[in-house]
Amino acid sequence: MIDEKPYSRLTILLKYLRYYFSSKGKHSVHSPLVFDFINQVVNVAHNAINPSAEYERKRLESSQKTIDFIDFGKSGKTYQKKIKSIAKNSLKSRKYAQLLGKIVQHLKPKRIIELGTSLGVTTSYLAYDKSVSVTTLEGSEQVAQEAQQVWKNLKLSQIKCITGDFNHTLNEVAKESFDLVYIDGNHRCEPTLAYFDTLTKNSHKKTIFIFDDIHYSPSMEKAWKQIKNRPEVSITIDLFFIGIVWIDPSLSKENFVLRY
Ligand SMILES: C[S@@+](CC[C@H](N)C(=O)[O-])C[C@H]1O[C@@H](n2cnc3c(N)ncnc32)[C@H](O)[C@@H]1O
Repeated sequence: MIDEKPYSRLTILLKYLRYYFSSKGKHSVHSPLVFDFINQVVNVAHNAINPSAEYERKRLESSQKTIDFIDFGKSGKTYQKKIKSIAKNSLKSRKYAQLLGKIVQHLKPKRIIELGTSLGVTTSYLAYDKSVSVTTLEGSEQVAQEAQQVWKNLKLSQIKCITGDFNHTLNEVAKESFDLVYIDGNHRCEPTLAYFDTLTKNSHKKTIFIFDDIHYSPSMEKAWKQIKNRPEVSITIDLFFIGIVWIDPSLSKENFVLRY
């Protein structure tokens, strides 16, 4: 059975160094789509995107409040956790939240779905453009309540949060079609592939899939490898902490590893 435990910090560091020195820049890329992606996303300064979300991150990182947190994917038990610990350990970093914001600005999706809301900071980057509608799924009720407060503070009203185990909520939501899918919850091979299958059913050829933490564990690396080999997948970009997937059949199949 494939190991679902995360790699140690040392292994991740060594993997990252290998990625860093083997990843490519724009001069070795011939695909026009990927060339544009590098010029308009990867190489664009990001600091100006959504500074108010970072105030919310700081507020959460210093919150001493304790809430119920359900450990999905592992024990399934409910634990008490400090918000500051969730904020420091579960959220995508500012650099990658801003990358997602830049991807949304570049690709201009109208309908986005996120699996794994947590405290809603990254969701606020996905919903930075007010014309975009975002559906986000979270299992822990009290965590989702804190996310709602974040969006209220940021005056983001176009986010719909659905609470419950993905196994109970996703099928219904996936009847809709999305332009961008961000999968950042339950980092294991089988569920990740199952979410991909469920969400491709009603997707369209321009739908983009983004997978979080593709090098987190042997299990997630197996999922990423299988996704790259799927016949419906054309272009993939590995940015180490996230992987991006195009399913447009008019694009030739190619896998890129780009430095970010
Ligand atoms: C890594 S966090 C998401 C972080 C968030 N996208 C961000 O960057 O701010 C993953 C979240 O997914 C939720 N989750 C994991 N497995 C789940 C499942 N099977 N059903 C519902 N929620 C789940 C967890 O409760 C957790 O809050």
